[in-house]
Amino acid sequence: MAPSKTIVKLRERRDAATLGGGEKRIREQHEKGKLTARERINLLVDPDSFEEFDLFVTHRCTNFGMADQVFPGDGVVSGSATINERLVYIFAQDFTVFGGSLSKTYAEKICKIMDMALKNGCPLIGLNDSGGARIQEGVDALAGYAEIFWRNVMASGVIPQISAVMGPCAGGAVYSPAITDFILMEKRNSYMFVTGPKVVKTVLNETVSTEDLGGAGVHSSKSGVAHFITNGEEETLLLIKKLLSYLPSNNMEDPPYEPTHDPIDRACDVLDEIIPENPNKPYDILDVIHAVVDEGEFLQVMLNFAQNVVVGFARMNGFPVGIVANQPKVLAGVLDIDASVKAARFVRFCDSFNIPLIVLEDVPGFLPGTSQEHNGIIRNGAKLLYAFAEATVPKITVILRKAYGGAYCVMNSRHMRADLVYAWPSAEIAVMGAKGAVEVIFRKEAQDSADPKQTLLQREQEYAEKFANPYTAAERGYIDDIIEPSRTRFRLIRALEMLANKKDSIPPRKHGNIPL
Ligand code: HXC
Repeated sequence: MAPSKTIVKLRERRDAATLGGGEKRIREQHEKGKLTARERINLLVDPDSFEEFDLFVTHRCTNFGMADQVFPGDGVVSGSATINERLVYIFAQDFTVFGGSLSKTYAEKICKIMDMALKNGCPLIGLNDSGGARIQEGVDALAGYAEIFWRNVMASGVIPQISAVMGPCAGGAVYSPAITDFILMEKRNSYMFVTGPKVVKTVLNETVSTEDLGGAGVHSSKSGVAHFITNGEEETLLLIKKLLSYLPSNNMEDPPYEPTHDPIDRACDVLDEIIPENPNKPYDILDVIHAVVDEGEFLQVMLNFAQNVVVGFARMNGFPVGIVANQPKVLAGVLDIDASVKAARFVRFCDSFNIPLIVLEDVPGFLPGTSQEHNGIIRNGAKLLYAFAEATVPKITVILRKAYGGAYCVMNSRHMRADLVYAWPSAEIAVMGAKGAVEVIFRKEAQDSADPKQTLLQREQEYAEKFANPYTAAERGYIDDIIEPSRTRFRLIRALEMLANKKDSIPPRKHGNIPL
């Protein structure tokens, strides 16, 4: 039977609308090496699972001849879909329509799916490719942005929010991704900045390229804005899927379990030899992480930023965990401003979404110096302390080697309410390293002695014998057990099992006042 006239008309309008800004613009998008909004969604979601909303929405602007330029959908494709059979809400900005710029109706489309994602407890995914506020709309576009920001904040800690930047993300467009939990940036075509190179030149007389101002390289290594950098759009979309596989759909659910063939009691013999004899020699903490987690699989977050701390997701016996680890290979694993902020945000994310935390500790302290002090290592280091203290998910620490000073306290110590603290026999738990310590407390004694150098050496040995081991802390019950490194995987899995039903809470309040 031939379709009725109304159905034919619907199909025609639908087909026209799915072309966005038209075939020429789609060609231009492809020539830049970019996919269209619809192609991106199709690659990301399960086949035939996308339910689109508001395909026929148009802008209402009549300024500057806009009444004659109307594109159904108005520059953003939005709806719900499933990814690996789990429901998500998604929007993809369509650069082929007014450069993906945001109008009031476009913002209303995004707000609609944000509201639905929040009500239904599903992750929200935004694929960004936009020239910012639609300039012809003036304050209406700004109102649209603010409505989105407000919803991002309300959804924070309730549903996971993921932003991929796959083209320009300029001006007001940056702040919605900034509030979301993770930003992925594609290497070639993505950039983010509040003001572009032209404005920088006018205001500051500085010449800078788009790439150097806000490219993926800058944001993944210098500013700490981006959590992941990817090679191409397909990799970005695959990474979103991978990231989601570790996350629950909302803060009331547990993260998804995935069966594993990796034996619980697999011995990690390599770990018995991994700590160098010389305590000042580095090793790679990633070797430890890969050895203990299921099938060696670790999704590192912020790989290129503050590399002295490593954070990311893995599974232990099939259950997702968040790992925070000092990296002795970079700056000896010291905590500085960037590392503290990076780790604090990750801890808070895991705590929001019921992901247990495992801390692998080898930290010589906080980084000294005027640069750190003047830029606020006190305020920023306190963020990490705050994050661990308020986290109520299962929290387990393994002290591998150094646990010195304030950094010992901060890195999920027993006193910060870690549930279980283990130490390797190589652990050194002290106020500071032996050399520094004796120079403070025995300097006078050394000066008064016949051989100051020898006196200091002797005292250093005494101090090291007393504190460069885990036994003093174990005698006080500050650590629960001293474990053989090769048994770390097994002991961690046992610990997670012991804590699987943990219930804990913090005092009720409007919200705490984390030192921002
Ligand atoms: C309306 C826009 C637009 C915008 C691009 N277009 N940005 N239309 N509002 N913000 C249109 C262009 O006019 C052009 O239409 C088409 O989209 C493609 O843009 P091109 O410039 O040809 O593309 P390209 O060379 O790839 O450059 C992309 C770009 C550039 C770098 C994004 O378009 C650009 O600089 N746009 C303006 C960025 C900006 O300043 N945005 C406002 C930020 S202020 P035609 O028909 O000519 O092909 C802001 C404040 C919000 O966002 C604050 C909220 C808190």
